[in-house]
Amino acid sequence: MRVLVLNGPNLNLLGTRKPEIYGTTTLADIEQMMRQRAEELGIEMDFMQSNYEGELVEQIQKAKGRYQYLILNAAAYTHTSIAIRDAIEAVELPTIEIHLSNIHAREEFRHNSLIAPVCVGQICGFGAKSYLLALHYVAEMEK
Ligand code: DQA
Repeated sequence: MRVLVLNGPNLNLLGTRKPEIYGTTTLADIEQMMRQRAEELGIEMDFMQSNYEGELVEQIQKAKGRYQYLILNAAAYTHTSIAIRDAIEAVELPTIEIHLSNIHAREEFRHNSLIAPVCVGQICGFGAKSYLLALHYVAEMEK
């Protein structure tokens, strides 16, 4: 069971970026937490971040055949990127959309996710634990 975790723009700034919204956990902390949990759950995991839409599209395309699930925090591209949505739809990989913050409780422009209709589901609002919950979903599905 192999899972790709993809992180979009500005998530490399976690820890110092708007801690009142995103907390003080860094992306490296999240990666470490996930690696530990993935090992416990018997899941192989790769973890990446990019600030570039095209790079995220490339990674989604390359994931086909190499991973069974995609865990995606597309960050701001969630609300704007038809290209990322189309890539998810094209590769037909079960994708779990995640967000640290509850996007539905924030500014109106964050309420709409262009990728939600092509994802299995959305986990948002649980801070860094949104990532761990996504891993647990994968583990449950593979039982
Ligand atoms: C985010 C929510 C997005 O609206 C925002 O643009 C982000 C982070 C989150 O994890 O809460 O960069 O995806």
